[in-house]
Amino acid sequence: MDREKITLTGVQETLLATLYARALDSRSRHSLLHDETALDTVRRLDYDFRGMGTTSVDAAGVALRAHCLDGWTAEYLARRPRATVLHLACGLDTRAHRLARFPETRWIDVDLPEVVALRDRLLPAPGGDHRTLAASVTADGWLEELPADRPVVAVFEGLSMYLRPDEGERLIRRITAHFPGGQLLFDCFNGLGIRMQRLVPCLRKTGARVHWGIDDPRALERLHPGLTCLDAIRGCDLPDVRRVAPLARLEARLTSRVPGLRDVLRMTRFEFPGAAG
Ligand SMILES: C[S@@+](CC[C@H](N)C(=O)[O-])C[C@H]1O[C@@H](n2cnc3c(N)ncnc32)[C@H](O)[C@@H]1O
Repeated sequence: MDREKITLTGVQETLLATLYARALDSRSRHSLLHDETALDTVRRLDYDFRGMGTTSVDAAGVALRAHCLDGWTAEYLARRPRATVLHLACGLDTRAHRLARFPETRWIDVDLPEVVALRDRLLPAPGGDHRTLAASVTADGWLEELPADRPVVAVFEGLSMYLRPDEGERLIRRITAHFPGGQLLFDCFNGLGIRMQRLVPCLRKTGARVHWGIDDPRALERLHPGLTCLDAIRGCDLPDVRRVAPLARLEARLTSRVPGLRDVLRMTRFEFPGAAG
């Protein structure tokens, strides 16, 4: 098999760390995601994944985060199966495949052009009403051109921290202004996470930088009338921590005892009202 040579750099290259983490998770006895496509995709790429320094504990952390967002997306779609899913910074993630049980959903996977081209070459189409869209989430226009006839669930995993604070806040303002109600589901770092970035092997390898630390997720409620933070759960306190491998469970338990450190990663769920609720 000819493997695809990877030429991505910087923030785009970071998607290989999360892809590899999901592949490692899928091989684990304690797998949360069972993402066989991730494992298959890793095998098809010519890339030094080991150089990312991803450990089995990191892989469990990525799987926990993805599983939380899958669960929240599925909860929303169970209520509103015809919603639009706006999956921003999709990378090579197969969330649309993992949640394929909602055939009426309109699904839009968005990432930077080079990533979308790679994704379209590598991943099987998930079926249903699905498309990929090549755009920078910070660029003007693309979002405003999307149909606004349905409520939205905007999911973005591993994106917010790479944006500048003004870019992140503008993105939230644009989504909430455009769609007739919905939810925003995303993970975020706190300020300490931003200050500790030199310790993160994937950032050292790729040269990507993180900028936006959110110490108080509820403070984002000011960005849109009626925007409400429903959840802001520490990564180390996610209920599924009890299902991961013992070493990852121990790390989560220790982290949850250290003020500041325990808030480095939070999973947030926001709701905003609209004609469609
Ligand atoms: C850590 S990866 C996460 C990828 C995917 N969500 C996952 O969990 O595997 C960060 C992703 O953000 C994307 N990204 C960063 N800045 C972006 C922007 N301005 N517009 C669109 N995508 C962006 C990168 O291309 C990359 O795919």
